[in-house]
Amino acid sequence: ANKGLKDYYRSFFPVGVAVAPRNLAGDEAQLILREFNSLTPENAMKMGPIHPQEDKYNWADADSIVNFAQRHGLKVRGHNLCWHSQAPRWMFTDKEGKTVSKEVLLQRLKDHITTVVNRYKGKLYAWDVVNEAISDAPDEYLRNSEWLKICGEEYIAKAFQYAHEVDPDAVLFYNDYNEISPVKREKIYKLVKGLKDAGVPIHGVGLQGHWAVNEPSQGQLDSTIKRFADLGLKVQVTELDISVYPKEHNARQRQANDNDTSFTPQKEQKQLEVYKMSFDLFRKYRNVMSGVTFWNISDRSSWLDDFPVRNRKDYPLLFDRNLKPKKVYGEVVNF
Ligand code: XIL
Repeated sequence: ANKGLKDYYRSFFPVGVAVAPRNLAGDEAQLILREFNSLTPENAMKMGPIHPQEDKYNWADADSIVNFAQRHGLKVRGHNLCWHSQAPRWMFTDKEGKTVSKEVLLQRLKDHITTVVNRYKGKLYAWDVVNEAISDAPDEYLRNSEWLKICGEEYIAKAFQYAHEVDPDAVLFYNDYNEISPVKREKIYKLVKGLKDAGVPIHGVGLQGHWAVNEPSQGQLDSTIKRFADLGLKVQVTELDISVYPKEHNARQRQANDNDTSFTPQKEQKQLEVYKMSFDLFRKYRNVMSGVTFWNISDRSSWLDDFPVRNRKDYPLLFDRNLKPKKVYGEVVNF
């Protein structure tokens, strides 16, 4: 009766969950301890929240998550060290508000990574080093972020080197979304293969796993995991949730779907099938799949409640709003 996901999957991979400090008390904390054996800070370790000014770090939230994990023997994945989003404005500008040079920005990135990785050294087993550096535009390779505009492609390799110098035991990941789309997947492949061939310390690929009732197909997911496994890299699903609203990649369909707020038994059934198919494949690839992490705890509160449209309730997880296991839970643990 007290068995959790982590127990069913003990011989496969750790099962994690993204958390904020407020989740670490009451019924949510009880659920975490019963079901999961790994934590990812949902926001607390991102550059903006943890390093709001050049000479100021905000450790409180990240510390409280790491301390909770240590007290209860949970693993922690760090998320993340370099991203275009939730990055503080000061990082890219000087005191007059002018854009800094490449030399200054790389030095700031190094200082940031060195300080953060060092603080949690030995307490985190893995880091998402670079997050979402690839463009979604079909004809564009890398995302045209401040990082790319100021430094060129080099910032990516540097970020891995800085992290590895400080914590040579940490497993270092490149992490991205839309990983199941063939075009994006090949761009991710090109990036991580290039890094690996150049001797950059990269050890794994994080597939975010923000999926939906209509994707991925089994073939898509199987070939995605296989593609990265063949590179000799570890694979983790780092931010799993399966939206009950279908995802479409053309503007007109997207508009239609974003206006659809009905949650029906049919959608719940489709979600169950995608979850079941996904975990079947995660187990099939147990030799390379070194972790699966859910992005939030339960349908009580998910970041998808406000994304991609605000105020549309989603039901993307394995536990309902009362934290009870949904029907889909039974499918995921039944093998
Ligand atoms: C999200 C958080 O869940 C939200 O609370 C926050 O407002 C925005 O970021 N890809 C990532 C995660 O790598 O860091 C994002 O997390 C979700 C998408």
